[in-house]
Amino acid sequence: MSDIDLKDYIRDIPDFPKPGILFRDITPVLSSPAAFQACIDRLAERYADRKIDAIVAAEARGFIFGAPLALKIGAAFVPVRKPGKLPSKTHSHVYDLEYGSDTLEIHSDAVLPGQRVLIVDDLLATGGTVEACLKLLEHFSVEIVECAFCIHLRGLEGEKKLAPHSVYSLVEY
Ligand code: PRP
Ligand code: ADE
Repeated sequence: MSDIDLKDYIRDIPDFPKPGILFRDITPVLSSPAAFQACIDRLAERYADRKIDAIVAAEARGFIFGAPLALKIGAAFVPVRKPGKLPSKTHSHVYDLEYGSDTLEIHSDAVLPGQRVLIVDDLLATGGTVEACLKLLEHFSVEIVECAFCIHLRGLEGEKKLAPHSVYSLVEY
């Protein structure tokens, strides 16, 4: 396992996308194969033996980490998408962001009752996005193993919104 410090690859952009928001930009992680690989390897090491059936991840940045992790641990990948993008029957949920509000959808046959699900996203801020994923998953009677992130912005207390589910992250600010 590499000893890369992921914080060296996360760039701070003040006042994006709105004044007062300090945006933690992961694109330098993605442009470094070693740093991106370290993210996926570290998450896979934690979850490889946890019998995960499916990884659920929200568009768009959640896909970047969720899909390679799903392949690496042999789990299904379930996309949660913005409205009007999924072609079959869906469940929908409206949620708040650190800088706005949005709707997320999941296919209504995306997971099976009793399956063990890991939710993955690039970053936990207010928790609104992953809370919306949890609400969507209430339709299915699945077991939520954990909510996993590359970055956790601790000051925003998003983990409280996700309780009692446990939160894991590779990096904290
Ligand atoms: C960002 C990020 C997380 C979410 C975190 O997504 O990728 O999904 O915000 O914030 P929260 O914890 O307050 O919900 P965004 O909605 O900006 O969309 P994107 O992934 O399409 O960039
Ligand atoms: N998504 C929500 N808040 C964010 C932040 N501060 N940086 C990057 N992505 C975000």
